[in-house]
Order: sequence, then C-alpha cells, then structure tokens
Amino acid sequence: MTTGNKTPPRMLPAWKALENHHRQVVHRHLRDLFAGDPARAERMTVEAAGLVLDFSKNRATDETISLLCELATQAGVRERAEAMFHGELVNVTEGRPVLHVALRAPRDSLIHVGGVNVVPEVHAVLDRMAEFSSRVRSGQWTGHTGLPIQAAVNIGIGGSDLGPRMATHALRAFADRDLSVRFVSNVDATAFVEATRDLDPANTLFVVCSKTFTTLETLTNARTAREWLTAVLGEEAVAKHFVAVSTNADGVREFGIDPENMFGFWDWVGGRYSLASAVGLSLMLAVGPERFREMLDGMHAMDDHFRAAPIERNLPALLGLLGIWYGNFFGAATHAVLPYDEYLGLFPAYLQQLDMESDGKRVDEEGRPLDVDSGPVVWGQPGTDGQHAFFQLLHQGTRLVPCDFVGFLEPLHPIGRHHALLFANLVAQTEALAFGKTAEEVAAEGIDTALVPHRTFPGNRPSNTILADRLTPWTLGALIALYEHKVFVQGTVWGIDSFDQWGVELGKTLAGRIAPELEAEAPPELRHDSSTNALIRRYRAAVRQ
Ligand code: F6P
Repeated sequence: MTTGNKTPPRMLPAWKALENHHRQVVHRHLRDLFAGDPARAERMTVEAAGLVLDFSKNRATDETISLLCELATQAGVRERAEAMFHGELVNVTEGRPVLHVALRAPRDSLIHVGGVNVVPEVHAVLDRMAEFSSRVRSGQWTGHTGLPIQAAVNIGIGGSDLGPRMATHALRAFADRDLSVRFVSNVDATAFVEATRDLDPANTLFVVCSKTFTTLETLTNARTAREWLTAVLGEEAVAKHFVAVSTNADGVREFGIDPENMFGFWDWVGGRYSLASAVGLSLMLAVGPERFREMLDGMHAMDDHFRAAPIERNLPALLGLLGIWYGNFFGAATHAVLPYDEYLGLFPAYLQQLDMESDGKRVDEEGRPLDVDSGPVVWGQPGTDGQHAFFQLLHQGTRLVPCDFVGFLEPLHPIGRHHALLFANLVAQTEALAFGKTAEEVAAEGIDTALVPHRTFPGNRPSNTILADRLTPWTLGALIALYEHKVFVQGTVWGIDSFDQWGVELGKTLAGRIAPELEAEAPPELRHDSSTNALIRRYRAAVRQ
C-alpha cells in the first residue's frame, strides 16, 4: 500500500553518500564556509510566492545541497507530490487522498477524486461561507432576539482550533474589531468560562468545528455552550446562535444543529491541513471573505511553486531536506521556529501539530519500524521575547538546535524605532549563531582569563531566514503552505504516512474508560497498574470529601 519511497531511506545511495559527506564536513565552520565565498548568500537565497529563504547560514556546502536534492529525487518526492496533487490515495493507512491543495485551487482548476472534479464543491462551500460571514459582519444575520452578532466563539480542538486560532491572531491587523472572535478548545471548563465570561448570549454565535463531530472535548464544550445559551434564550434560539463545520451531517443533526447551518468539507482534508476549508470560518468572520481569499491565493502560489520549481530552488523541499540533514546526520532532536512578529505568536504551536502529528511516526508506510529518526520536536516563541529566555541554550548549550527565523521587512505598526530594532535583533541572532565569538576575540577585549570560556560563543549554529515584505493574508497563506509541503517532503523521504494520527487513539480510549471510574457512585473495580489505580482512588477520595 505504498505511495512513496519503498526503499528504506538508509538504503538509498544518496543517504549513504550523505553519511560519508557528513564525516567530511562535520567539523567545517560557517566562518570558513563564508570566508572566501562572497557569493554564498546570493547563491543560497531563493524567492517564491512572496517569501525569501536565505539558507546560507546552514552547515552545508554546495555538495551537501546537491546530495540532499539527490536524496529527494531518489526518495520520489516529485512523484509523490504529483500523486497528492492528482488525488491519489496518498494517506495509505486511511485509504484517502490528501487534497488540501484543492481547497485553494482557482475556480477553473480540475482536481478529480473518484472521477469527480472536487473544485466546484470547494468553491460552493467557500461562497456559502462568504455569504454567511458577510451577513454576520454586516449585522444582517441577527440572534434570536434580533440583535446583531458581536462575538463568535469557535469550539474545536487540534486542527479544528489551531489553524483558525493562529490565523485569526496573525491577521488581527486586518480584522473587524466590532466582532470579537474567540476560541475554546480545552475540555477544562476554565476555557469555556473565561471565553464567555463577558459575553451576552443574545449576541453570541457559536461555531462548532469538528471534522468527525465525535471529539470528546468539542462535544462537551458545545453542550455546555448550548446550556449557557438556552438557559437565557430557550431551545428555539439554537438555530440562530449555532453553526457547525463538519464532514458528519448526521452527527451535526443529532447534536441539534440544523444541517442548513452546517458548512461541510471532505474526508480528504486532514484536520491539521484544514484551515483553508470551512474550518477557517471563524477566521473569515474575523477578517472577511476577501482577506480569506487572499490567504488562499498565497497558499496556492506556494502550492504551484512546490509543484513546479526544481528541488534545488524549491523552498519547501530545501527546508525539509535541511531538516533531514540536521535530524538524521547531526542528531538534532528539535527544531525551533522563531517568528519576529508579535502577530505570529501562535505560529509555533500551530506548527507543532502540523509537523509532529504528521511526521511523529515510528513505522514506514509498510508498517516496518524506521531505522532512522523521523520528525523533530518543534518549538518556538516570538523574538525578541525568546532571546531573553531560551536563546542562551541556542548560543552556548551543548545541543544543536537548527532554527528558522521568520520576519518582515515592513511593519504593520510603524512607530518610532520599533521595527528597526526588531529586525536588527533577528539579523543579529542569525549572525551570532553562525559566527559566534572566538576565545581570541574575547581575550583581546581584555576579559579576565577565567571568564574567557564563559564568554566565548562557538558559533556554527545553523539557521534559515524566511522573510516577506509584510505580514498579510497572502504571506501568511504562503508561509503555512511552505511548512505543509516541508512536512510532506520529509515524510516522503522517511517513507511514512504523514496524514494519519493513530498515535492519539490510545489515550482517547483509556480516558473513555477512566472517566466513568472517576464518576461512579460505588467504588469501581480497578484493573489498571498500581500507579493508575492509585491516581484514580486519590481523585475519587478528593471529590467525595
Ligand atoms: O488529536 C487528534 C485529532 O484527530 C486531530 O488530528 C484533529 O485535528 C483533532 O483531533 C480534532 O478532530 P475533529 O476535528 O474531528 O474534532
């Protein structure tokens, strides 16, 4: 049932060549790679879809890049990308196509699933979303008592939360501030209570967002929301205050939402790849249909680039391959994403699901255990805050942490020196990480000999710099698609299914078993291990005091 690389990556000639090459270049310093090669930065900078990638501050020679590109070729990245774009069953363990690219395809595109062109359906839903959000934003769609909507609360989790939440935050500069858009994901009641504390049910709209409409957290929060609303407005108010986003019309109906008020999508859209579908409804409510379409256009521009550009000039491929270089050959276990923009504060959390749920796998598509590491731990925080927190480890710790610095040339709020200082910090960090400061340089400053080792920066710490002119819906879309395809490239080289997530199932099943044991009146017979049994008994004792 393979669609990708059938040969385990280690058996590919390019992998073996990279192992040899790594031994030759591992001790080369970025200082040396730059010295005597003034064209390095220019050669190692690529632009596409409004984004610029400078990958010159990586521990890579031209030969490294060409071997990595050869690896992508031997692993069948091109062929598998075409299979994805053509609607083949790329998600082999779930037997589904993977077509988030169809969600942002222009109206006249042709993308077939089972002989049917799905693009008209995609645009029909986008048009309904646009019509609905325009009515809400203009005050035409009113609540049960005739009041215009002033707050929209998205109830969802994982892919049904992180995408719209991150993008709504990222595009706040473009949002209608008269409509407050909020997000509730955690089953912890605190999330619901805090999100709705200052809201009036009469002008609040809930968007219940769940691909399956079976997710425990979302259904629990949605039931609480319905009680919160109907306690004040009565059952008949549900129709004007609840809409659903789902692939499960029966589940939506059963919950009590009229399927007329449902925005559908398709099983070929993975949760973490679903922002461009109806899952983006809350974002559209915040920024309006036009801005939403601009974001889709940015995504599509990156899709086109990924599909057409040669691997050595292909932004997602280069990011993915460099990630493999560090993860598999240098043993880097994590990857930091550091946006130098306050609006991108949730971008690292969004990427955590995108990358770690996709490529956090231990077997290949055939079910064979991987004999190489797969996806890294992805983490990060906006600069400059991170500089005053964890950058110490990036500069002087013992671990190698490859970093992506993401920044913008123009500010959204041009005030005083803020933007120049922000950008100066971004550039300075990439320079300091790459080149460091030698013991000789430190000593030459007259520093006490005992302190020289403490004040030395070894450098040779790799980073990518990703820039755009401004943070706009377009550039956000391009950035999202860049990372989606990066994850795809890596998954293809590792030969894994990046589109399933079986690893989340066991915990869900066990929680379903444990919840009744916590809630039972009579002490239940516990058959877990001694630790789990004790934790359950401790909870029961506490709540029954
Ligand atoms: O955590 C597992 C997961 O299935 C994610 O992949 C998904 O995005 C999330 O749960 C929410 O699922 P749903 O949209 O079906 O509620």
